[in-house]
Amino acid sequence: MKGILLAGGSGSRLYPLTQSISKQLLPVYDKPTIYYPLSTLMLAGIRDILIISTPRDVPLIEALLGNGERLGLRLSYAAQARPEGIPQAFLLGEKFIGDSPVCLVLGDNIFYGNELGEILKKGAQLKSGAQIFAYYVNDPENFGVVEIGADGKVLRLTEKPKEPASNWAVTGLYFYDSQVVRLTRTLQPSARGELEITDLNNLYLHGDQLSVRLFGRGFAWLDTGNHDSLLTSAQFVQTIEKRQGLKIACIEEIAFRQGFIDAEKMRELAAELSSTTYGAYLLRVVQETVRW
Ligand code: DAU
Repeated sequence: MKGILLAGGSGSRLYPLTQSISKQLLPVYDKPTIYYPLSTLMLAGIRDILIISTPRDVPLIEALLGNGERLGLRLSYAAQARPEGIPQAFLLGEKFIGDSPVCLVLGDNIFYGNELGEILKKGAQLKSGAQIFAYYVNDPENFGVVEIGADGKVLRLTEKPKEPASNWAVTGLYFYDSQVVRLTRTLQPSARGELEITDLNNLYLHGDQLSVRLFGRGFAWLDTGNHDSLLTSAQFVQTIEKRQGLKIACIEEIAFRQGFIDAEKMRELAAELSSTTYGAYLLRVVQETVRW
């Protein structure tokens, strides 16, 4: 399974914060936003990842994450000239995907909860069809909305419906089989001039190849798309991290716990940041005998 992290867009809802920098580089408490979706892919066990952003921001993200080698990852980059829709990621990533299945995560989505790693690893075993994830929200009209039958099957998917038929929002995390590039090619831009991820998911649905998994109420799905959600996401991360003394989405820690890098490499990474609290945390992780 390969991974695509889509971190472009104009970020206009966050202006003037995003006038000269991508929203995926803004902080969510103690780390850049992009660390959170990157850690989601890593928890799924995915190491070969294409990061897509604007021509302006690709060099900045690359300066932050490099080629991923230090984390035992293979990171590559592509620029999206204009934000012409989420599925465009598959056209830009056609060569990268080849005939592999692929997981797409949106760069402003944060997932947190018990057994997230197990759920993601299961998703990453997908060989055919597509899997989406839904979360019960208060404002479904702002998202893709899924109606689910009594048997747990998807009945209908609608993008930002004025009168939502359910409270189940489709999250920005998707697993697709290798048909995804071919199916994306058949999509037409919507009224707002973009290729729509909901249209792609509907193609899988109509082919009876779409499944949905629900994230329960003990889970947190947050995004950083507007000023309030950026602040509340930061407060959420701060609350949990202060309480536990453990970090959410520390990519070095995840690389270590996933076995992408060994203890020696982890000590090296900690040493590079030795004068910082982040570096001290990395050292603590590698020294602790209990594995969390
Ligand atoms: O967050 C989940 C929601 O994401 C889903 O429920 C919706 O079905 C889906 O359409 C999408 O809705 P948004 O309104 O959040 O889409 P937005 O246009 O804000 O794009 C989501 C992220 O993807 C955003 O961080 C910017 C990035 N993006 C978006 C587009 C359209 C790109 O990098 N390139 C693009 O062309």
